[in-house]
Amino acid sequence: MKRNILITGGAGFIGSHVVRLFVTKYPEYRIINLDKLTYAGNLANLKDIEHAPNYTFVKADICDFETILSLMRQYEVDGIIHLAAESHVDRSIRDPFTFARTNVMGTLSLLEAARRCWESRPERFEGKLFYHISTDEVYGALELTRPEGIKPPFSTTASSAEHHLAYGEEFFLETTKYNPHSPYSASKASSDHFVRAYHDTYGMPTLVTNCSNNYGPYQFPEKLIPLFINNIRHRRPLPVYGKGENVRDWLYVEDHARAIDLIFHRGKVAETYNIGGFNEWKNIDLIKVVIRTVDRLLGRHEGEDMKLITFVTDRAGHDLRYAIDSSKLQRELGWEPSLQFEEGIEKTVRWYLDNQAWMDNITSGDYEKYYDEMYKNR
Ligand SMILES: NC(=O)c1ccc[n+]([C@@H]2O[C@H](COP(=O)([O-])OP(=O)(O)OC[C@H]3O[C@@H](n4cnc5c(N)ncnc54)[C@H](O)[C@@H]3O)[C@@H](O)[C@H]2O)c1
Repeated sequence: MKRNILITGGAGFIGSHVVRLFVTKYPEYRIINLDKLTYAGNLANLKDIEHAPNYTFVKADICDFETILSLMRQYEVDGIIHLAAESHVDRSIRDPFTFARTNVMGTLSLLEAARRCWESRPERFEGKLFYHISTDEVYGALELTRPEGIKPPFSTTASSAEHHLAYGEEFFLETTKYNPHSPYSASKASSDHFVRAYHDTYGMPTLVTNCSNNYGPYQFPEKLIPLFINNIRHRRPLPVYGKGENVRDWLYVEDHARAIDLIFHRGKVAETYNIGGFNEWKNIDLIKVVIRTVDRLLGRHEGEDMKLITFVTDRAGHDLRYAIDSSKLQRELGWEPSLQFEEGIEKTVRWYLDNQAWMDNITSGDYEKYYDEMYKNR
């Protein structure tokens, strides 16, 4: 079936994996990647598919309602996968207005454009879907009651579950009450509410997923894993918040993209699905795995760069533990993470070490010229 799918934020980390998956897996679809190209947007993430006949890139701001509406009409968009956002918690603490503007007002502008565009057609919402990508951070923080970790209480057949430990008895469920603490998570929580409100008020077919921390290739190097890989390579300090006790649930980015594909096609309208890796790690333990892997792959003595770890003042309002129970998605749609964490980290470290030019392009700022070079004559 032919479909015209608008993916927002496709030049970012997760968005680029989603765009690549849809462009290659569904040649019959037209994929329109709409991205403002903020500091986090990098078209070099999509070099391998930029000439695909079913792919179109549009530089635009999701807050620009008139432009979004006319693009949606021009391309007769029938599906939206909305990933565009400001995504870095530390930046949200310094500049909350930008987060409210993009994450809240930008999402509202997309929702309203979709409603006006779709309502004006005879078939209205039939065959349409507005799929909003969100985070587990909206649920707030869980207690860390098992410092040594325990087996999780829910059963899973996921291969990674063999190694899974939980650091407490509680998990985020789809029914967990929202309790965001950072300006980032507050802005995402607000956007989630708007998306559900558009279903409840106008009957618009919407869907929300809340996912845990992603890792993998093409992540902007302000985020922990790529930042630390690069710092270890150059033997620079590794700043660890507090004592590194905070726990996060990590998911390989391609497993998230596969979940998005499955949910976009088979998820139930108006539902929420939690997506997670069944894979909790204390920051300090995760960092040690990254150090050992980088050292080994660079031919250094494994663990010699542990000395780079530097404890710094904790992040304000730092949530202690996030842990997702994604068994609903597993039960209802049959999704599970495909990679064990050790494999995923090995693949990720190898990718960053093999793609030093990608990293250098960002640290030098050259990546921001890519749009002009690629699209100025079109
Ligand atoms: N990274 C994670 O671990 C994680 C986990 C769960 C959910 N999420 C959510 O997934 C989505 C993508 O996250 P990411 O890590 O890939 O983010 P990212 O920061 O790497 O990418 C965000 C993209 O959005 C674009 N963008 C920002 N503001 C825009 C605007 N006003 N108009 C158009 N485009 C704009 C940027 O240019 C960039 O390409 C976000 O909604 C985030 O909240 C991320």
